[in-house]
Amino acid sequence: MSTGRAAVVTGIGSYVPPHVVTNDDLAARLDTSDAWIRSRTGIAERNFISPGTSTGDLAVEAGLRALKSACDQQDGAEVGAVVLATTTPDQPCPATAPQVAARLGLGQVPAFDVAAVCSGFLYGLASAAGLIAAGITDRVLLIAADAFTTIINPEDRTTAVIFADGAGAVVLRAGSAAEPGAIGPLVLGSDGELSHLIEVPAGGSRQRSTDRPAAPEDHYFRMLGRDTYRHAVEHMTAASTEAAERAGWRLDEVDRFVAHQANARILEAVSDRLGIPAERQLSNIARVGNTGAASIPLLLAEATAEGRLAAGHRVLLTAFGGGLSWGAASVIWPELQTI
Ligand code: UT7
Repeated sequence: MSTGRAAVVTGIGSYVPPHVVTNDDLAARLDTSDAWIRSRTGIAERNFISPGTSTGDLAVEAGLRALKSACDQQDGAEVGAVVLATTTPDQPCPATAPQVAARLGLGQVPAFDVAAVCSGFLYGLASAAGLIAAGITDRVLLIAADAFTTIINPEDRTTAVIFADGAGAVVLRAGSAAEPGAIGPLVLGSDGELSHLIEVPAGGSRQRSTDRPAAPEDHYFRMLGRDTYRHAVEHMTAASTEAAERAGWRLDEVDRFVAHQANARILEAVSDRLGIPAERQLSNIARVGNTGAASIPLLLAEATAEGRLAAGHRVLLTAFGGGLSWGAASVIWPELQTI
């Protein structure tokens, strides 16, 4: 279904906190090794937030850069809504987006969080595009930010070596579906039957409504890695195929494939199935790890700044995460300024 008002990317920005953590740093406190982490995940280093900072701080930094990029681009028109995709809000209540909007000086605009774990950026794109299509606003700041280290069990080597902190953001404006930067048909899906594969068991109403206190480890994120891996490959492959078809593209016409940076082996398996060669894939997982919802816009911003992603490229996006949730979308990359 399409409406007259498409959401068009007009600004982009990203931020990772300055504290770099190498595989050797992790191996100094966990039963793991640089060799295992590199070979099983493709990650060499990642960034962690500092004590006392939060997802909101990451979101403000990425949001500032995206707003500046949009201003440099063409006009200073005002943002009329803020959508924040995150699994690690600053507090369980209220949403973090209103505080981020206020800190960015955007006033009393509508602002809300989207919870779709590592698929959050694509679900956020759908929310932002909906606000624009419905005529609620002409311009949305969509931020995807996660401070996964705040929910990772530092003793759990199966997750502590993968997840990290970061943020990415885009400004979307009302435009036409034929313009560069217009978000193409979105494919989204979920499977709640498999919600136990990726979860934080405690801290929500189900646990809090019992009179039994939760075990401390139940407040941490946990993931059944092997099953998650299998579903990630299956759903990202299928969603990408469908999004390309709905955009009217053959897969060999995709110039840049941008998948959620879950694990380098997952990315390889998905690209192999789609027949997308290495030179048309973008990746930064070696340097930033798996940053949850942030991973796609963080990669888009970095690749734009480095020139690996350029105006006119046909870009296919896909993500997979807890829920289970997944999605894919297409966009012809616009001319963008980066900070
Ligand atoms: O972003 C949201 C979605 N998330 C994903 O898509 C992630 C999906 N899953 C994965 O990326 C991979 O499954 C992992 C990276 C989590 C794990 O890789 P794997 O090749 O599937 O390993 P495994 O879980 O099957 O474990 C293999 C072995 C086990 O030892 P045994 O049972 O064979 O003795 C693990 O205990 O590797 C062991 N292991 C480790 N060894 C050293 C697990 N984590 C580590 C570690 N260092 N950090």
